[in-house]
Amino acid sequence: MALQHEKLGGHMAAAVTGIDLNTLPDGPTQAKLVDALHANLVLCIRGQNLAPVPFRNAMARFGTPMLRKQLAHTAECAEVNIISSEDRDELGDGKKLVNGASWHTDDSFMRAPCSLTMLYGVTVPSRGGDTQFTNMYAAYDDLPAEIKARIDRLKVIHKYESSRKTNRVAKRPETEMAAMPEATHPLVRTHPETRRKALYLNANRMEQVVGLERAESDELLDALIGHAIQPKFQYRHVWRQGDIVIWDNRCTMHKANADYPEGERRLMHRVIVAGTEPF
Ligand code: OGA
Ligand code: MN
Repeated sequence: MALQHEKLGGHMAAAVTGIDLNTLPDGPTQAKLVDALHANLVLCIRGQNLAPVPFRNAMARFGTPMLRKQLAHTAECAEVNIISSEDRDELGDGKKLVNGASWHTDDSFMRAPCSLTMLYGVTVPSRGGDTQFTNMYAAYDDLPAEIKARIDRLKVIHKYESSRKTNRVAKRPETEMAAMPEATHPLVRTHPETRRKALYLNANRMEQVVGLERAESDELLDALIGHAIQPKFQYRHVWRQGDIVIWDNRCTMHKANADYPEGERRLMHRVIVAGTEPF
């Protein structure tokens, strides 16, 4: 069956069907998938049925899978993490933990954050549990010229547990917290492959703009977040079982929604692939 391509959102996101990733795509097919991802920022590959190792192997065609030790992983493959409705803050208050409930880009507290995240819907609820995305190229392009000039060279400190955080993050052992990296990243980054400029924000991990007083920094970051998450820049993914959604953390933010019916299960397998230091 040939690869079928369908636009999902107006300005971002596409879906492909007609491919079974249990067989690794040939070179030209893989190149088409990568092109579709770069053109659409979020790429959904429909109808998959993959055990953890074949999932990891298919995702390894897009980059180098990384370990994410803060999350649980499958028994079969340490590079396949588990995002589940059963997640609890084990070392904290033991309460239900929704990973990624506020607008963020993955792992921006790292010096070289993951470039792509792949989330595979193993069990999806009957309704709700959508993932929202926002287009950070469009958000940057839409800024007035004087704001662009003001922010083009600014840098921001990102932390695992920022004092500005808008949702709970999993508590980690003290030794791990002490060694948790923080990173200083440009507020406007250039995508290394498309060469386009994008706003680089993370509502949950940004601490402060370098060189600005706290109040001025907070005001600027709040204004930029408010700008970037306007509905006109968003795409909302409604999950179907067997979807793999691949997003580009270098030019999008995303957000989980825990609004599915109580008692229903949502189980996702997740792979991240290595990125470079933002510039
Ligand atoms: C993530 C994430 C969103 C979701 O895995 O990084 O933010 O909808 N997930 O589960
Ligand atoms: Mn995330």
